[in-house]
Amino acid sequence: MASLPNSYAALRSIGAYVPEKILSNSDLEKMVDTTDEWIYKRTGIKERRIADKNESTSDMGAKAAAIAIERSGIKKEEIDLVICATVTPDYFNMPSTACIISKKLDIINVQAFDISAACSGFVYLLSIAKAFIESGMKKNILLIGAEKFSSIVDYTDRSTCILFGDGAGAAVVSATNDKSEAIIDVHASADGTYADFLVTPAPGSVNPANQKMLDKKLNFVQMKGNETFKLAVKTLTKDVIDILKRNNIKSEDIKHFVPHQANYRIIKAVGDALGMSKEQIVLTVQKYGNTSAASIPMAINDIYESGRLKSGDVMLLDTFGGGLTWASALVPFSPKKG
Ligand code: UT7
Repeated sequence: MASLPNSYAALRSIGAYVPEKILSNSDLEKMVDTTDEWIYKRTGIKERRIADKNESTSDMGAKAAAIAIERSGIKKEEIDLVICATVTPDYFNMPSTACIISKKLDIINVQAFDISAACSGFVYLLSIAKAFIESGMKKNILLIGAEKFSSIVDYTDRSTCILFGDGAGAAVVSATNDKSEAIIDVHASADGTYADFLVTPAPGSVNPANQKMLDKKLNFVQMKGNETFKLAVKTLTKDVIDILKRNNIKSEDIKHFVPHQANYRIIKAVGDALGMSKEQIVLTVQKYGNTSAASIPMAINDIYESGRLKSGDVMLLDTFGGGLTWASALVPFSPKKG
């Protein structure tokens, strides 16, 4: 028999940072051979945000994190773990972006590290936070999903440059004794068989930085879009059906379905398979594009700031990305009472 957790993990707050500069579909029409109509029809994207050239992933992550901490009602001195999900870290590969964010927020002498799970990063972080808290090792964890995806996009490649944007989202997850506040379940998985579906081939130990690698543009993201699309629909549909079944929760019990914002057609296919109504499905893809690890917390922040996310609302999160990785979670929004 599984032993009882020391305490439960509650999602206390959410925050996000969105860069000012907008890159619209009509801007992209002037850069590559594409049209607003093609992009909107195939992806649902109208525009995306692009960070300033002096703005790093940690700058955006720190801004989102400061908001999440402020909204959590927890003092930054009480945070005992800082974890960041990103595939566009400030540096390849040290120091970690989590360390830099911690320094920027003056949260020092606290464990901090990055994870690499591409677009699934934030839900992977939730699984880590849940495990650390249930084991009794940590009490207040700062989670950040931040990406300056524009730093690895080739703006001459129409198959990828139309998809991605920059931004950051953050959350505080804390220990609670109240089971009704707890993250219900997180399922995260991966299959490296499809590692070449989404890849930045360099720099890394396979292709160390050199002129040849730059000439071949190996530092930019490469994607087998159509293959990724098909696998995403199949895998996500199965994953969300499984997590609902395992927890004896029906689609209609979900207040907000918060899918990874990669492509409206993927979101619609999975939403339809679950029988989700339009009101349940959270959509930001039209204005932010795909912001990878920042996508889910930015979407949660969107419903929070528009007043739609209320205490006790149960969210179903689902995501899919490079690795390949995928993850889903059942998460009530549990701001601190009193
Ligand atoms: O976040 C991580 C997970 N990522 C994803 O889930 C992304 C999944 N993939 C997708 O969202 C879609 O596959 C894309 C939006 C990337 C592409 O849509 P698609 O319907 O799969 O198109 P396709 O790649 O099969 O290409 C269809 C046609 C091709 O032309 P031909 O060969 O039929 O003549 C492409 O060259 O569309 C062409 N094309 C474009 N045309 C205008 C590709 N990109 C563009 C473009 N503008 N930007």
